[in-house]
Amino acid sequence: MKVATIGTGYVGLVTGACLADMGNEVICVDILPEKVDLINQGKSPIYEDGLQGILKRSVGKNLKATTDLNTAIENSEISFICVGTPSDGDGRIDLQYIKSAAESLGKVLASVDNHTVVVKSTVVPGTTENVVLPILEKNSGKKAGEFGVCMNPEFLREGVAVEDFMKPDRVVIGQYDENSGKKLAELYKGFHCPILRTDLKTAEMIKYASNSFLATKVSFINEIGNICKRLGIDTYTVAEGMSLDHRISPNFLKAGLGWGGSCFPKDIKGLISHAKELGYEPKLLQSALKVNRKQPEILLEMARKKAGSFEGKRVAVLGLAFKAETDDTRESQSFPVIKQLLDEKAKVIAYDPKAEENTKAEFPDIKYAPSAEEALRDADIALILTDWEEFQNLNYSGMKNKIVIDGRNIVKNRDGIDYTGLFW
Ligand code: UGA
Repeated sequence: MKVATIGTGYVGLVTGACLADMGNEVICVDILPEKVDLINQGKSPIYEDGLQGILKRSVGKNLKATTDLNTAIENSEISFICVGTPSDGDGRIDLQYIKSAAESLGKVLASVDNHTVVVKSTVVPGTTENVVLPILEKNSGKKAGEFGVCMNPEFLREGVAVEDFMKPDRVVIGQYDENSGKKLAELYKGFHCPILRTDLKTAEMIKYASNSFLATKVSFINEIGNICKRLGIDTYTVAEGMSLDHRISPNFLKAGLGWGGSCFPKDIKGLISHAKELGYEPKLLQSALKVNRKQPEILLEMARKKAGSFEGKRVAVLGLAFKAETDDTRESQSFPVIKQLLDEKAKVIAYDPKAEENTKAEFPDIKYAPSAEEALRDADIALILTDWEEFQNLNYSGMKNKIVIDGRNIVKNRDGIDYTGLFW
């Protein structure tokens, strides 16, 4: 099929590239010419496992990028809106990019027939029907039904987004009408997974409910961990025992410093804020968020107990990305830790194999080490905040005081150090 994706962030580009790899003809649209140029050279503007390979084999064949939205829509049957939906201070999502994409799309639809617009960006329930659809109708002069409208949430984890796209657990198709859903279902017909057809706002809610559930599951095990710690019980054995029950499963039951990234925090806050607007106080979701905010404080308290005041102390912070295998630092749990250390006048020496550049924007004045060993040299205390594999067996011999606080239960080599696990 002929497809356009609007926005070449990680969702838009992965969607476009994977659909091209499946044999579709894809045009990726972005307003930034430098991104478009990179893609057209077969180079990925973001790091995502497998993406570069797909771009290499598809660009120049059945995948191209452009800044020209009109031509892209005129030459496609389905377009995916994959633009960002950032959060405002209160957790409400900002729809400015969605609105402007819908406006541009609507104008082209005035002269294009047989086109289906699909919202892939994460938007609160009701947005596709009450915001996107009226903008499309107003700008095209047509009624929905004359063009198709769908909502198709993404469930792509950063770092394994290509694999998640190609082998999904499920595809959710929210449809305005039967014809719209049928058209989109055709695109996914090669997938060996359940394809669930719903109305538009149900599809939007499935996305929020899924991310909120997973975030709550992690906060749940972290809460159990905080209780276990006081009882001298190993949380990880408790989690293992729970996960043997197939109804619970081991996934997202890894206790630690908590969750970050561009999705869980934004989506749970978005759902809380939307629920409140509807007159409902979502207490469980609020608590999941509270537990998550508390984890960095708990880790710092453990560090204070071991090392005393942070003032003038050299603190090695290992791990800046919100999870391993990414350079993404958005809502990283490492950031509140660093901020507090600086407030308490510690000398912070940070290291991350991939996320140093992104951290510099937030913390330009702390020291960055080129390796974990360099960060540990002469340190009074080490805080391990991201689950990078290279932190499993570090050499602590250069440390001044070998106090190590492990926020991710990642350290295997615990010989000769004063080890404290967040839950152990
Ligand atoms: C998440 C979802 O997993 C995707 O399905 C979804 O499509 C995506 O958000 C999105 O909405 O776009 P992602 O943000 O890439 O994907 O990260 P995850 O791998 O889900 O991890 C989220 C956070 O939870 C990380 O900070 C991770 O360290 C933490 N986590 C995860 C734990 O602390 N314990 C666990 O057991 C699992």
